[in-house]
Amino acid sequence: MPRVTFLPGGETAEVAPGTLLIDAAEAAGAFLPGNCGGVCACTTCHVWVEAGAETLSALLEREDDKLSEALGLRPESRLGCQARVGEGDVVVRIPGNRSGH
Ligand code: FES
Repeated sequence: MPRVTFLPGGETAEVAPGTLLIDAAEAAGAFLPGNCGGVCACTTCHVWVEAGAETLSALLEREDDKLSEALGLRPESRLGCQARVGEGDVVVRIPGNRSGH
């Protein structure tokens, strides 16, 4: 199964293909808040994908629109409640712009 690793903490978990990044974070024990409940209406689940971005589900217009509001937007930005793990390993960094980090 693909392995998802969360930086800066290094929490990691193997998850089934199709798992949302935000659910992978929960499985790994990483703190990735989803304030809107995963309906693409906030940006608290924003992450930077440092490796394996090409294995994730495609960036759709709705996610792209919401991402434009994210603090620290980068080309490698995704929303954890929208991006799904594919067949390969992924490394994502949780931005340090929220309480607790
Ligand atoms: Fe709100 Fe992802 S949890 S946009």
